[in-house]
Amino acid sequence: MKGIILAGGLATRLRPLTWVTNKHLLPIYNKPMIYYPLEALVGAGITDILITSSEDHAGHFENLLKSGSGFGVRIFYAIQKNPKGGIADAILLSEEFAKGEKIVVILGDNIFRFNLKQSVERFNQQEKGAMIFGVRMPTDFGQYGVIEMDESRKVLSIEEKPQHPKSDIVQTGIYMYDNRVFDFIRLLTPSGRGELEVTDLNNAYVAEKTLQCELLDWWIDAGTSFDELLRANNLVAEKVKKGEL
Ligand code: G1P
Repeated sequence: MKGIILAGGLATRLRPLTWVTNKHLLPIYNKPMIYYPLEALVGAGITDILITSSEDHAGHFENLLKSGSGFGVRIFYAIQKNPKGGIADAILLSEEFAKGEKIVVILGDNIFRFNLKQSVERFNQQEKGAMIFGVRMPTDFGQYGVIEMDESRKVLSIEEKPQHPKSDIVQTGIYMYDNRVFDFIRLLTPSGRGELEVTDLNNAYVAEKTLQCELLDWWIDAGTSFDELLRANNLVAEKVKKGEL
């Protein structure tokens, strides 16, 4: 399985911090933000990792992470031409890199702790389909995708930023797909905010009943606001000191 970290976007909500650098390079306690998803992939045994970013920032990632040998992996870089293209648009950049293998995608500002290796192994045994990762949290802010699933963890629906959420399970930024994902993305049309939405992509798998969801205990979307960035720093500092991260 190949790994992809999405580190594009303009992060306008974090200006002026993001005028000259990319939000995924901002510090979270003692490391740049992107180290967390990167180390999660490394820990899961993924050896080939593609980082997608904008043309202004791709070089900054290369300066920091270089070939990936310091992490024991190979890192590749791709440029997303339209920084507002959306998550599914960025995933499409990895088609050639994936070489027909399954992929695991992580948003570069997602910080979490769970056994990703086990999930990778489980998904590798699956013949086809996709897997997403949810977390229980208050969903009344209309900020995230909301997942409805049955007892066997099969996803029944995902609604993007709903006014009336059907559950308290939020869609995180960790996704696994079979190699048909690129064909599904090519069928998508831009949403109201002009993006190719990951929720529309995932709903293509819902339609064929092949989308599973696993639940995480702990997840932070560190790059959404100053307050979340601060909360992520404080939480990570606490967890590192307790040896939990
Ligand atoms: C995206 C997804 C959303 C998901 C969120 C997780 O939202 O569309 O379903 O809950 O990432 O971070 P965005 O951050 O693009 O608004």
